[in-house]
Amino acid sequence: MALNSTIKPIELIGTKVILIDQTILPNEYKKVEITNYKDMAKAIKEMIVRGAPAIGIAGAHGIALAAMEFINYDKNQFFQSLRQTADYLISQRPTAVNLAWAVEQLYEYALKLKDLPIKEIVANVVSQSKKMELEDIKINKKIGDFGAEIVPKGATILTHCNAGALATVGYGTALGVVRSAFAKDQTIKVFADETRPRLQGAKLTTWELIQDNIPVTLITDGMSGYFMQKGMIDMVIVGADRIAANGDTANKIGTYNLAIVAKFHKIPFYVAAPLSTIDINIASGEEILIEEREQNEVTYINGKAICAKGVNIINPAFDVTYNNLITGIITEKGILRPNYSISIKQAKL
Ligand code: MRU
Repeated sequence: MALNSTIKPIELIGTKVILIDQTILPNEYKKVEITNYKDMAKAIKEMIVRGAPAIGIAGAHGIALAAMEFINYDKNQFFQSLRQTADYLISQRPTAVNLAWAVEQLYEYALKLKDLPIKEIVANVVSQSKKMELEDIKINKKIGDFGAEIVPKGATILTHCNAGALATVGYGTALGVVRSAFAKDQTIKVFADETRPRLQGAKLTTWELIQDNIPVTLITDGMSGYFMQKGMIDMVIVGADRIAANGDTANKIGTYNLAIVAKFHKIPFYVAAPLSTIDINIASGEEILIEEREQNEVTYINGKAICAKGVNIINPAFDVTYNNLITGIITEKGILRPNYSISIKQAKL
């Protein structure tokens, strides 16, 4: 069965990058044009574009825009400015490794071309960035197809946050698995956690699944244990922002709670992510830097305060799920199983 979805949250077209503004979905669908690297950094920080693979490609496109901006610099200035831009883009969101991964890939690619005239370097960097964009969709489709093999017929899949087309260049990771599974079996269903505080589940996951006519039920974050206890959830599939060499996985805050409750109820818990999300430079989740976001994400909903003034707030955007809670990691090279230290090493070769 073919799906309708043509959601393209990020597209490099000529000298511009077109983003879907994810801060106003689902009430408004609007595209924004980004023409310089500073605006791209702002779009990443403010989550106009969000989701690990999507901010990776947004970061790469930020480098492409910068290269175009620096086209008349001399070589030294060009590479110095490009390096500064890379650091600036990477600093916008620290947890998702895809951002640093993609930015560094493109910067290294530019460095290798350093003997060419600057105009040629720029042209190559821009077309390489476009290639990375298109590659992301192919990777997600592979993840989707491997994942679809382990989705039981008629399964109800619980997911957290948005690991869909909107969080990537298209198709999605966790929702890529859902899409591929649904293409084979239209009796599968999704339960989407609302995902406080930014509500990516409520605002984005439900929106994109409804585009594809995939049945989705929205639940508040605290309800997941209830539905697991009632036997209404067959599997959990989530995305990832950074996976350590031992399989410990950082994903949207609340993922860890889900994994523990799933383990208690013997419900399989899968992570779907491209290999670029695996950071083999860190041994375990303890080394993952967790982004702390502004307090008003917690204290305000739709511009209105929801709590007493003066209350203490801590707002970590991600948490780390231990590898022993994870049934498998679905990647473009297949499904990695424990012992993750071994399966990850082999997949990353
Ligand atoms: O803060 P966000 O919305 O960027 O967080 C997104 C997530 O946690 C996703 O689950 C993760 O990036 C995987 S997206 C394929």
